[in-house]
Amino acid sequence: MKYEKINLPYGYNELEPYIDAETVEIHYSKHLQTYVDNLNKLLEDYQTYTCGKTMEEILKDIEDIPHAIRQGVINNGGGVVNHNFYFSILTPNSSGKPKGILMNHIEEELGGFERMKELVSNAAVSKFGSGWSWLVLNKFGDLEIMTTSNQDTPISVGKVPLLTIDVWEHAYYLKYKNLRAEYVKNIWNLFNWEIIESIYEKYRAK
Ligand SMILES: [Fe+2]
Repeated sequence: MKYEKINLPYGYNELEPYIDAETVEIHYSKHLQTYVDNLNKLLEDYQTYTCGKTMEEILKDIEDIPHAIRQGVINNGGGVVNHNFYFSILTPNSSGKPKGILMNHIEEELGGFERMKELVSNAAVSKFGSGWSWLVLNKFGDLEIMTTSNQDTPISVGKVPLLTIDVWEHAYYLKYKNLRAEYVKNIWNLFNWEIIESIYEKYRAK
């Protein structure tokens, strides 16, 4: 079984002016592709551990993976899953904010949309080194904000990703240089709230 990157649901230049075409192209076709290639190579001799499983399922039960390749799967499998998720929840046609049940719960649990934005953004800007800022659903069905380092994923600690900001420098450095906060501010123009809402509604019901 081979793991793959998603088909990008927009053109490289369609996230401009917030994320430039060159960054999207290199991020998707080079960085993500490298995680895909490294992951598939790593798993070549370990097919019995992975057959029929999605990478999300594997990362959820990462202790089942042999110690010899476990950290490699965390790094490269996480790199594939995190990036596939990131690219899937961006769109050039963002509605700007969620509505319906997700919006209600952001208001009830996190103090409102602007407050949630501030918490996710602050976590992204202050994350030391490379990593990710997340809005997730925890196992009690509550919304939570968290960060992960490197390519660690909330899936490995039993949480469902709803929204993420990639704060590795490769996600923004060509356009924003050292100004990570500007990239974090601008990415809010790109979230696909219809997809994020559908994930929330699907998993909250479980
Ligand atoms: Fe990235």
